[in-house]
Amino acid sequence: MISTLLSQLDGPDGDRTPRLAYGADYNPEQWPREVWEEDVRLMREAGVNLVSVGIFSWARIQPDRDRWDFGWLDEVMDLLHAGGIGVDLATATASPPPWLTTAHPEILPVTAAGETVWPGARQHWRPTSPVFREHALRLVRTMAERYAGHPALVAWHVSNELGCHNVYDYSDDAARAFRDWLRARYTTLDALNHAWGTAFWSQRYSGWEQILPPRLAASHPNPTQQLDFKRFSSDALKEYLVAERDVLREITPDVPVTTNFMVMGGTKGMNYPDWAGEIDFVSNDHYVHPGPQDRAELSFSANLTSGIAAGRPWFLMEHSTSAVNWQPVNVAKRPGDLARDSLLHVAHGADAVCFFQWRQSAAGAEKYHSAMVPHAGADSEVFRAVVELGQTLKALAPVAGSEREPARVGIVYDWESWWASEQDSHPSALLDYRQEALDWYAALHTLGIRADVVTTTTDLDRYDVLITPVLHVVPAPLAKELTRYVESGGHLVSTYFSGVVDENDHIWLGGHPGALRDVLGIRIEEFGPLLEGDAVELDGAATGTLWTDRITVTDPAVDVLAHYRTGAYAGRPAVTRRAVGRGSAAYVSTRLGAEGLAGLLPALLGPAGVASELPEGARGSVELTVRRGPDGRFLFLVNRTDESVALTGLAGEVLVGDTDAGGGLVLGPRDVAVLRRPAT
Ligand code: GAL
Repeated sequence: MISTLLSQLDGPDGDRTPRLAYGADYNPEQWPREVWEEDVRLMREAGVNLVSVGIFSWARIQPDRDRWDFGWLDEVMDLLHAGGIGVDLATATASPPPWLTTAHPEILPVTAAGETVWPGARQHWRPTSPVFREHALRLVRTMAERYAGHPALVAWHVSNELGCHNVYDYSDDAARAFRDWLRARYTTLDALNHAWGTAFWSQRYSGWEQILPPRLAASHPNPTQQLDFKRFSSDALKEYLVAERDVLREITPDVPVTTNFMVMGGTKGMNYPDWAGEIDFVSNDHYVHPGPQDRAELSFSANLTSGIAAGRPWFLMEHSTSAVNWQPVNVAKRPGDLARDSLLHVAHGADAVCFFQWRQSAAGAEKYHSAMVPHAGADSEVFRAVVELGQTLKALAPVAGSEREPARVGIVYDWESWWASEQDSHPSALLDYRQEALDWYAALHTLGIRADVVTTTTDLDRYDVLITPVLHVVPAPLAKELTRYVESGGHLVSTYFSGVVDENDHIWLGGHPGALRDVLGIRIEEFGPLLEGDAVELDGAATGTLWTDRITVTDPAVDVLAHYRTGAYAGRPAVTRRAVGRGSAAYVSTRLGAEGLAGLLPALLGPAGVASELPEGARGSVELTVRRGPDGRFLFLVNRTDESVALTGLAGEVLVGDTDAGGGLVLGPRDVAVLRRPAT
């Protein structure tokens, strides 16, 4: 479906071969009519061929219950079409208008403490409100009926960042829907009482109506109730997404439907791998959080988005040309960042590069957020960089539709483990699930080794090495699957606090990590979390923080790769590996950080024979990713540093990038090169 969409995006010459999409959220309702013509002219100058329209237009489209105003939107759609720009049309349901919240305050979300979340910002609606749904679906239907067949319409954009502000709602609607969800999951109250461990603290339920969301409580709410509420909240939004999608599919069956995910930073409420199958293509929004690992995080998020999209192309629906407005300090991007950040997403499978937003707002909460056309206007560095990126994306048209070429190393990212491992009343509140995964990813980059970030729904057998950071929740079938993976020659690398609980958040008894104890050949009697600032030394100059384990080796095939030299477990194993036929199962019991892991990785990757595909001088500075399709294999080389890097010995047609006199590639600071090789 993506290829059809991309081939609908006319080039200036009316050429219908697929191309990469380029554009932004476009909010013309913020501007007088005369600006719209200039917008389209500048879009053409920039090479823009796709915009998302109508995301926050509900109040404008439907000014009152039975009043509709489509004239302006008709005109915008026509203007864009005349300019050769496709429209990813929003269903406009993201932010309910004041008339609706005034008439129906019962659609407003409620916090765990029982406070109402009032209108005044956006996304103030309960995912489970039947009243909200009725009004929203009426709008969706009206939009779809009006624009079905409009030549500018190329895709539907459901709502906006579902769950960004409203994933957790503790209202009475939520309580009712939560009970229904629990009945479907457990069927009987006995099963629920068992799963939730309600023998503890006198929590046994004798009627379904007694069950509530985990509202503000005197102490730690029941952990399985919390975990189920997270599952339910993600499912409730997914169900809402499906409800909008079904209306759209009924009326415009040929128009692909997407919604913009937020795979970035700490956004964890929505289990996107579980949503991805419900839409026609995956879209993601990503914003850089400045800091030492900012571009590693960007790369990790883009890579994970590709994993969620099962390696197929996806759309970068939003990112920023420069500063955002919602961080404590909103740092402007440096020259080169705009293109490099965009192309890093393309390297990981994005077939669209879109920004929030087209024209920087003059009013409202986001007036200091950058855009493609900044306050300064088109005579600006930002707009010139936007135009240049448009040209680069044109040169990359052959990449459109290509998929990711699997790496040999996979890093498993699992929402259930993310949720469960970071709940309260655990050995350590300092554990950071995403950071541990990011550290492994960054360490592999230091060694110049490609890795795919994947989910537990992926075919894991395609990877020679599988790293499963903090895979805390391991139900019996997953334990079996991982054991089979190792027995059939795979190399599993597991870390602290993995394999500890089942899907009900019940401990696997008999010594940790119960679900993985046999395959790892170790037994842990006690966790030894470290206080903030404390560290332990391991053999070979590595330093561990956050966590240690009291490990006993239980299988003669286990090699101890490193012992603790200091701390409560001095002399005991810290890193182990059990050889299993051609495969192996390793365990890292402490947090080593990206640097420490880079020191350890050669020993872990050695048995699998995984080595860098990059010339030595480029490792740690240049990121290599590979996409492949009928038109070739595309090697993306992204300079993550502020220094120039020369790359020799890489053959291929240069689609993007500079070469020196000898034909070697030269990547200036933050530069990107793309090589094409024949498809194999
Ligand atoms: C996203 C949102 C956009 C805009 C942007 C600013 O969360 O979808 O509407 O608010 O952030 O960075």
